[in-house]
Amino acid sequence: MNNTPSTKTVIFRATIFISLIGLSVVAIYLYQQNQSHQEKITTLLLEHDYFLLEKASTTKLLAEERELASSTIQDLANRLSLSNEELDDIERDLKREKNKNDEFEDQIKEIAGTVGVLDKLSKTDKELLQKYSRTYFLNENFIPLKLSLIPEKYHMSSGKEMYFHGDAIEFLEDMLDDAKKAGHDIRVISAFRSFEEQIAIKSQHTLVYGSGSNAFSADQGYSEHQLGTTVDITDILTGGTNTSFATTEAYAWLQKNAHKYGFILSYPEGNQFYIFEPWHWRFVGRDLANDLYNSDKTFYDLDQRELDAYLVKIFD
Ligand code: DAL
Ligand code: ZN
Repeated sequence: MNNTPSTKTVIFRATIFISLIGLSVVAIYLYQQNQSHQEKITTLLLEHDYFLLEKASTTKLLAEERELASSTIQDLANRLSLSNEELDDIERDLKREKNKNDEFEDQIKEIAGTVGVLDKLSKTDKELLQKYSRTYFLNENFIPLKLSLIPEKYHMSSGKEMYFHGDAIEFLEDMLDDAKKAGHDIRVISAFRSFEEQIAIKSQHTLVYGSGSNAFSADQGYSEHQLGTTVDITDILTGGTNTSFATTEAYAWLQKNAHKYGFILSYPEGNQFYIFEPWHWRFVGRDLANDLYNSDKTFYDLDQRELDAYLVKIFD
């Protein structure tokens, strides 16, 4: 008996052996691979845990910060609302101060206005808007503050100086100039008359007409002519103090335009003082003359109190 294994057996055994070795190598490799995966998984798990921890801490930090921010915002809001209240207070104070200033300014203006009015009045004859016809009296000492010579070109007759109130003469000249431009040569017969001149005129009238003169001639002290703001005027054709002047175009022009220059007719038809005197015109200022014209009233229709209100602006 031959115990020597056959070649086949050797090959078979060698194959088995090599296969076993191969399997072992594969098993070792797989084992190693598995180990490496395990390590990786462990590392990943650790990293995940760390991440979760970190996330939790970050979330906590964020929450804390959010709380801090929210309390800061609340604090700011409180301070802001306080500031708004303070601003409201300041605004209220400012308004109060401004109102006080405005009131003060108004008072100053009012005082300045009053001073201006008083100053104007102190320079104006207080008699200029008095109702002199028969009732009021100017004494022998009264003459207007200012008197100006009426230029000769406006005189009806030459040879006698005539005076008119210095602050009103330009209104008279303007009126006569404009009348002339409109084709009416209106002239002055008589203007300012002193107390003594009125005595002389009235005496002369009384001498001729007796008590009848009272219908057209004022006693001394009662004539508007003493004010310096009154004129007797007529057109060159009529030539004198004649009622027929009322029928002329010159008179019609005066009726339509005299108020624009501040003049009014003192004694219209039917007045209670004197006969109708179409020649006798009194300067009362444009404001009053316009108002009388527009309301179709005469100077003597108004109360003295109403007339006085116009005195401050008589020369405006
Ligand atoms: N002719 C007027 C009334 C005067 O004498 O004043
Ligand atoms: Zn007159």
